Amino acid sequence: MERIIKVGLLGLGTVGSGVLRILEINSEEVTRRAGAKAEIKKILVRDLEKKRSVPVDAKLLTTDPWEVIRDPEIEVIIELIGGTVAARSYVEESLRAKKYVITANKDMMALAGGELLSLAKEAGRNIYYEASVGGGIPLIRPLKHSLGANKIISLMGIINGTTNYILTRMSLEKMDFQTALQEAQEKGFAEQDPSSDLDGKDAAYKLCILAGLAFNSPIRYNDIHVEGIRGIGQRDIFYAEELGFILKLLAIGDELEGGLALRVHPTLIPSTHPLAGVLDENNALYLVGNAVGEVMFYGPGAGSMPTGSSVVADLIDVIRNINHQVENGIMEMDFREKKIVPVEMLSSAFYLRLQAHDQPGVFAGLANAFADEAVSLDRIIQKRSEAGRAEIVLVTHVVEERSFNRALEKIKEFPAIEKINSLFRVIES
Ligand SMILES: NC(=O)c1ccc[n+]([C@@H]2O[C@H](COP(=O)([O-])OP(=O)(O)OC[C@H]3O[C@@H](n4cnc5c(N)ncnc54)[C@H](OP(=O)(O)O)[C@@H]3O)[C@@H](O)[C@H]2O)c1
Repeated sequence: MERIIKVGLLGLGTVGSGVLRILEINSEEVTRRAGAKAEIKKILVRDLEKKRSVPVDAKLLTTDPWEVIRDPEIEVIIELIGGTVAARSYVEESLRAKKYVITANKDMMALAGGELLSLAKEAGRNIYYEASVGGGIPLIRPLKHSLGANKIISLMGIINGTTNYILTRMSLEKMDFQTALQEAQEKGFAEQDPSSDLDGKDAAYKLCILAGLAFNSPIRYNDIHVEGIRGIGQRDIFYAEELGFILKLLAIGDELEGGLALRVHPTLIPSTHPLAGVLDENNALYLVGNAVGEVMFYGPGAGSMPTGSSVVADLIDVIRNINHQVENGIMEMDFREKKIVPVEMLSSAFYLRLQAHDQPGVFAGLANAFADEAVSLDRIIQKRSEAGRAEIVLVTHVVEERSFNRALEKIKEFPAIEKINSLFRVIES
């Protein structure tokens, strides 16, 4: 007789609905691959009366988390409520009750993943979190398993769909930032409060998870230098493209001699770079391993069915483990703390757009200030001149951030410089 594994679902929103739908439409494939049938026994929600986007038996719904977590028949808990407080306590309680846990919750895994994985290990269970980064793109499993033979040298990702959608619209449709944000909200690619996405926080949480696995080191949010995309002007996109670059919000991790360099910031990348063609709400992760070389993962970084697909893949793994009586499975407990290199110690090329009085000697003054700090300029262009004001765009060669910042402080003191409009790091190849 076919074995049935009882599952408790916490949350029936965007991702929870995708999970139910996939279990319905791909029931045969999932059961065959898992070796047992998954049956959703109970579902935690906040509002029992809410209209659901998938057909669901009302008898399964409950507002009492403990009814799900403490049900002795339930062997697997899928946490899809989001947030960090209630979700964390439900996950802890599930592990203590010796349930396997699956989650899509990047915030929780970034902030408390280490503690939760230790708790899972003690309980002889594991936490599966493929859906927490990159939605439907397999990233966690490749980093944990398939690329395990490599020392990862660097990773670079577009891992926030909202900001990529906005920057793509600004580039392709020549929209300004506000219009692109509004369109993203109307199409469901940005939340009503988009701060976490726009300020780079969401990407930084995901980078905590990815860099932890890639570099085998526990990563905290504060280890990451974070800048968002607010304040990017249409003109920056336009000038960048004229110079042969595309502007993207990148999450970057490098293992350098002195330690790990981790940052999230808008970055100019050459228009020929593999990440330059990643458009709209799509995500991609590009990484370099010392054995495999360059690898890129690409696909939908969010959404009901794509994210549900990662959750159900985790469920298949869990059921296989239950069937084979594997307790923890493959865990990331070999993490060793590595040093973090502060961003000021890193080197980069820079793009700078500034506004100056249109008068003789401005270029020479800028060139001298940079030369004093050994910053060499690749390009310096006067873009516009109107009403006695000039807009100047310059791109430096690769330089230490500290030297660039010192030169910038001097430039800000020039009476002829009215305003620094924007400043971005540039990746040249
Ligand atoms: N949306 C995506 O594309 C995506 C992609 C990757 C990862 N994720 C992650 O997946 C998780 C779920 O996201 P989502 O977009 O599916 O969220 P969502 O649409 O807001 O759904 C959340 C669900 O959880 C329930 N819920 C929330 N707090 C609860 C509480 N305290 N007690 C009981 N039920 C509660 C809600 O109940 P009601 O329905 O009754 O309100 C709702 O069903 C989050 O961690 C998110 O970061 C989402």
